[in-house]
Amino acid sequence: MVGLQWGDEGKGKIVDLLTAEHDVIVRYNGGANAGHTVVVGDERYALHLIPAGILYTDKVCVIANGVVVDPIKLLEEIQALRARGIEVGDNLRISNRAHVVMPYHKWMDEALEASLHGAAEGMAIGTTKRGIGPAYADKVSRALAVRVGDLLEPERLRRTLRTIAPLHAKHLAALGWTGATIDPDALAEEFASLGRTLAPHIVDTTYLLHDFLGQGHSILMEGANASLLDLDHGTFPFVTSSHCSTLGIPAGTGVPLGRIDRVVGIMKAYATRVGAGPFPTELNDDTGDRIRDRGHEYGTTTGRPRRCGWLDLVAVRYSCMICGVTGLACMLLDVLSGFDELRICTHYRLRDGTVTDRFIPDAKRLEEIEPVYETLPGWSEEIDATTDRAGLPANAQRYLDRIEEILGVPVEIVSVGPERTQTLVAV
Ligand code: IMP
Repeated sequence: MVGLQWGDEGKGKIVDLLTAEHDVIVRYNGGANAGHTVVVGDERYALHLIPAGILYTDKVCVIANGVVVDPIKLLEEIQALRARGIEVGDNLRISNRAHVVMPYHKWMDEALEASLHGAAEGMAIGTTKRGIGPAYADKVSRALAVRVGDLLEPERLRRTLRTIAPLHAKHLAALGWTGATIDPDALAEEFASLGRTLAPHIVDTTYLLHDFLGQGHSILMEGANASLLDLDHGTFPFVTSSHCSTLGIPAGTGVPLGRIDRVVGIMKAYATRVGAGPFPTELNDDTGDRIRDRGHEYGTTTGRPRRCGWLDLVAVRYSCMICGVTGLACMLLDVLSGFDELRICTHYRLRDGTVTDRFIPDAKRLEEIEPVYETLPGWSEEIDATTDRAGLPANAQRYLDRIEEILGVPVEIVSVGPERTQTLVAV
């Protein structure tokens, strides 16, 4: 399953739903920048690194090699789950080849964002400051990286950190960082201790996943962030540093593309974005405020108010195309109750007047387009108690029908509220 917009589509709820049908749940990209909220009864769980499948007792959750793991955050998450009676033991496996987010990555993230804010208008990305970009940058640089398996070898970790810490310190100084400093020995000790605690969970997840496949188990790949934030295919440079589309699955897990037989794309019935970057259908008016209020559109990870706008089907169609989506989950349809009219963007008008149905995965060029809308009649009824698609008001059904027509993909799941029960499943 994969998010088709700029994140926060309500993936946590769908992953929770789909988890019931699978044996193994896998995170293949991103890190603690993701935030999945799952509501079970009166309990609300905000998960960042651990797959939401952990809330089930009979599933194995895997943090695969494509993820960047912040061991401090991970341990906090494990402890918070245990404090609420959720078992975290053999049911959580972490790749020994996943890269580690170190404290200095978070400092670099913060320092780079601050210097871009100061130096160049419109260049800061508005990251979550979880150290994601700098950790992936070290992975690509290779020599400067620390992987989860390295935490299990304290002496080697100390030697590595003694070598790379001065280089990272120079980088931080160049970014104007005046905060905490890196003490390689103290860091080695802290992270070796984290390694000891996490050791029972650390394995080669590639072989583990292939063993599961060989035994006939079903695997759910849980995409974090969303495809329009994909490093290669999103609205670069206002993207995250991983491959969040389904294209990240083979590299991030070692499971080949050919093993994937169903792709559930998650979309909101409208659009939101957190952080900077182009957003063609953004509404900076009362309608946008109303969507934010009704949808409680504030970030799970950072608490930031989300930017809100009309549904952009040019963008979603592009995401369906690159991800190979076979069915859709349309989330938060209930938020749109009470509007006289609803608009969906079907085309973009370019600066020279040309109209296109093609997305433009490039921030500068996307900023120049004007959305072309189709207007549909709204519905006044609240729909949060509806139990099947046929029970929705006619105009809500029409809205979903139009989405299917334009995208050419069936809507398999409709969500009309945060509870597990407020879900209309059509397949
Ligand atoms: P980073 O992933 O912290 O480097 O942030 C890069 C961009 O991606 C920023 O605009 C973030 O707000 C956005 N972003 C990263 N993860 C998520 C997510 O899970 N949901 C929504 N936006 C995200």
